[in-house]
Amino acid sequence: MQKLSLKKVFPFTWYFFLIFNLLPIQEYAYSEEVEISSVRNYEYNPIISIDEWKKLEPFFLPINHPTKTYLDQLFSNNRPILSEKAMEKAGFSNNIIIRGPQKAVIGHHPKLKGYIIKTFLDIQPVQGEWIAWRSRILGAEAIRKCIEHHNFKEFRVPKKWIYPIPINSTPPLEPIYYPKYFILVEEDMHLLSHKETKKTYRNKMTKKTLDHLYIVLSEVGLIDSVYADNIPFNKSGKICFIDTEHFNKGPVKFERIKRYLSPSLQVYWQHLIDCNGPLNK
Ligand SMILES: Nc1ncnc2c1ncn2[C@@H]1O[C@H](COP(=O)(O)OP(=O)(O)O)[C@@H](O)[C@H]1O
Ligand SMILES: [Mg+2]
Repeated sequence: MQKLSLKKVFPFTWYFFLIFNLLPIQEYAYSEEVEISSVRNYEYNPIISIDEWKKLEPFFLPINHPTKTYLDQLFSNNRPILSEKAMEKAGFSNNIIIRGPQKAVIGHHPKLKGYIIKTFLDIQPVQGEWIAWRSRILGAEAIRKCIEHHNFKEFRVPKKWIYPIPINSTPPLEPIYYPKYFILVEEDMHLLSHKETKKTYRNKMTKKTLDHLYIVLSEVGLIDSVYADNIPFNKSGKICFIDTEHFNKGPVKFERIKRYLSPSLQVYWQHLIDCNGPLNK
């Protein structure tokens, strides 16, 4: 048999890359392929009570998670969450959004491909951040359960984990810093921009998806998911529930969704509101 030389194989490699690049963006980078262990033994941080630590432990990033080694490395060299500047210096780029002293910052990092982090910076006067992170995870799981129960196909919810910052990484002892002890790691949903999301709500929404959306919002009590920015579309055309902190709450102000819809679907959404949801749930 004739041996294939590298030269002969090479052109096919290019075809392969071409086809690969034309495939739709993979929604989850690792989640399906890597068997994530349930081992979550992080060094206890005495800053919070042992009872509270135990409550958080089930939500910790598994130690064999693909982002874990690099996060450890990031925090062993420096304090990347000290300030916006420190984050940029640590390699976090675009989408670092600081929209207020109480707003979480979102970080994308090339070494954390497929994931994003949500964090508060040490300069932000926020304390007890782990309460919000736990709530965001519980909210995401409540939504996932609802979607799976109804077998709805139009939605996605990112998986989320709490990463306990190694206890030897601390900001300088100065009154301008409010040390943070945990960050949130999430699957990157590859979202459309806010502008593109709004265009998609206006032009691509269907009655069936609105039926399903109404059911999820009402059953899970998602008071903050009535804004397109919190339920944006992703590049695969799915609606992503990303802002999951507030759940099992009410009343849900359904009418706020109306402004994103086409005139005919505004009428349909109002009909859903008047009837408390679709008739054949
Ligand atoms: N899982 C995710 N994947 C990709 N981008 C995200 C994800 N979660 C949040 N973002 C980006 O961060 C922004 C703020 O996130 P959000 O959870 O809504 O926080 P906030 O409570 O500050 O509103 C979103 O509008 C979106 O652009
Ligand atoms: Mg939000």
